[in-house]
Amino acid sequence: LLRCFPSSRWTMVGEPVNLNEFQELAREALPKMYYDFYAGGAEDQYTLEENMEAFRRIMIQPRILVDVSRIDLSTNVLGYNISAPILIAPTALHKLAHPEGEVVTARAAAACKTIMALSFTSSCTLEEVASSCNAVRFFQIYVYKRRDLSALLVQRAERNGYKALVLTADSPRVGRKEADIKNKMILPKLKNTERFLSLEASSDNGSNLAAFAKETKDASFCWKDIEWLSTITNMPILIKGLLTREDAIKAVKVGVAGIVVSNHGGRQLDYAPATITVLEEVVQAVGGRIPVFFDGGVRRGTDVFKALALGAQAVLIGRPVIYGLAAKGEYGVRQVIKMLKDELELTMALSGCTSVKAITRRHVRTERERL
Ligand code: FNR
Repeated sequence: LLRCFPSSRWTMVGEPVNLNEFQELAREALPKMYYDFYAGGAEDQYTLEENMEAFRRIMIQPRILVDVSRIDLSTNVLGYNISAPILIAPTALHKLAHPEGEVVTARAAAACKTIMALSFTSSCTLEEVASSCNAVRFFQIYVYKRRDLSALLVQRAERNGYKALVLTADSPRVGRKEADIKNKMILPKLKNTERFLSLEASSDNGSNLAAFAKETKDASFCWKDIEWLSTITNMPILIKGLLTREDAIKAVKVGVAGIVVSNHGGRQLDYAPATITVLEEVVQAVGGRIPVFFDGGVRRGTDVFKALALGAQAVLIGRPVIYGLAAKGEYGVRQVIKMLKDELELTMALSGCTSVKAITRRHVRTERERL
């Protein structure tokens, strides 16, 4: 926060004016254990911080004297028209931030005409989320050792109108988040009738998420298994958690519908590169054959602009959505998305871009190009 407002005398008064202020509100609203769970990253948290820091090293190169009296933020993702290239990333356990959890987030997504990816570690069932709103929803999955249970979950998602399957591939094991270890982070007890989605099919009570995941997730799942996944669903498959040219080429080869450049918001492999620094490499390797999405550290409209200029079709946001939810419920999530959209629109106007397609590689200058 101090990076944005370097004056140490600065204090927040009234309504939040940017996403960083929502983080402060969430910090105040949440028990420390839950705030740390959401905000934290793996080990030294280098990647967590770099995700944001690396955006600050990219400059925007505006064009002047363009008619920017009308700006169109709308775009298309996998055939769905949405209001802006800003999607909701899958994040775990929204009921720790709000008593109604993901159902509320999904309603906000619908109100903002955007897409929500529901986490495999959702605290609402996928049916509850499906029946609560008409947002376009994707379903994120980790694959269980018990393939039959994974298949059941995928089929449930498809039956309930989820439009794409997001396979998160950066988490064969759960990253070591030391704040959670120190806080002895455990899942709260839910009412008898409620279970966390990913635990539904198991007998474990899952009080320790990392241990539970290690026990149940299939760490042997690899490229050849994507074929199996595609045999059990008609939903298009996106691979999330990809950071290199090599893996981008493999993803195209196995025939997935798209990829998400992501390091899980710095929660998995620490010292993985900041996502914005590898986006262009991945985009070049893909060569336009499938769409490339992006997440990690997006906190400003200028960040969205930079990611689009480097070739992302849209960005996903993780933590800011949870902060909005914790601070102000559905209104908070809507505000977070609206703020990003407003900032993106202003950035486009000041850069001479009237549509998402008009944002090109020549609109940004990376650190390497400045040397
Ligand atoms: C995540 N993320 C995540 N990803 C995923 O595929 N399945 C999941 O269940 C979760 N859970 C989760 C929980 C929390 C608290 C966070 C912060 C993140 C990663 C998420 O989808 C996304 O990649 C990052 O959050 C993007 O970074 P920012 O926007 O948080 O900086």
